[in-house]
Amino acid sequence: MAILEVVKHGHPVLVEEVKHVEEIDDEIRTLIDDMIDTMRNGETPAVGLAAPQVGRAMALFVAEPPPDHEGEDAVYQGAVVLINPEIVLGSGHTVVEEGCVSCPGITADVERPARVVIKGLDRDGNEVKLDVDGALARIFQHEVDHLMGKFFFDHINPIKRQLLKSRIRRT
Ligand code: NI
Repeated sequence: MAILEVVKHGHPVLVEEVKHVEEIDDEIRTLIDDMIDTMRNGETPAVGLAAPQVGRAMALFVAEPPPDHEGEDAVYQGAVVLINPEIVLGSGHTVVEEGCVSCPGITADVERPARVVIKGLDRDGNEVKLDVDGALARIFQHEVDHLMGKFFFDHINPIKRQLLKSRIRRT
């Protein structure tokens, strides 16, 4: 396991088109382990991390809500890995304050579906379909956004967005 450098907003890899993962080989497994390590023990611990955030334009992310989070998704303890993820259904809506380790110094209230069904592959290449609400639903949507070159503030009104973007810490 190794701590990877987390790239910041403005880095081109964050808006690059991600590659579909064709084969889960040792390189991908190492990347996943390192992303989990970085999410847990990096300079700024996070509840989720997408591959572009560590400089790899690949369709995968890791997620791990804090242990005390509420919601039915509490059954998914430990880090969740999703490869080639796709949100197939979203329902309801909630507003939650979000931040991002690639955009230090800013947060915003973001409205998103409260519950999502997401499918993809786990680290062993098994097809999985998860139906989640609460923190995990929120994190999954935030991370899938990263795989499409989007940030949490792309969901808020343009005037607030400009103001927020100007406040991202660059150092
Ligand atoms: Ni983020």
